[in-house]
Amino acid sequence: MLGEIIEIPQLGNERGSLSVVEAGKLIPFEIKRVYYIYGTKPGVERGFHAHKVLQQLAVAVSGACDMVLDDGRKQKTVRLDSPSHGVRIGPGIWHVMSNFSKDCVLLVFADAHYDESDYIRDYDAFTTWISK
Ligand code: TYD
Repeated sequence: MLGEIIEIPQLGNERGSLSVVEAGKLIPFEIKRVYYIYGTKPGVERGFHAHKVLQQLAVAVSGACDMVLDDGRKQKTVRLDSPSHGVRIGPGIWHVMSNFSKDCVLLVFADAHYDESDYIRDYDAFTTWISK
């Protein structure tokens, strides 16, 4: 489903909160890489790519940003503003992030190591690739 939101349970008590993402349980893929996007300058948009096979889950663990997801037929915008909600970014999804708050830390879980050859960074190439 385009822009599927995964609920990440909030554990915790009067001391504060804790959330857990376990591979194969909360998300149906193994986690091979974790990266985080932060300190994004005001007005900056990021992303502008799709992946051929990579699966990811993105969570704004601090602050907020918007993500537009596009499967070549339809688009969906999700607001990421909670450590207890993640959005799945499957293969073949063009995605663009914008409206980053100053304190935004976007944490991303990925099922493979970084591989530039898995990226499609041109929108026309993406629509050609997706329609094959
Ligand atoms: P890029 O994908 O362009 O970031 P964004 O989509 O947020 O605009 O990545 C920025 C740079 O970081 C680019 O040179 C690739 C590099 N990079 C890695 O080396 N490893 C990684 O796991 C990621 C996600 C990016």
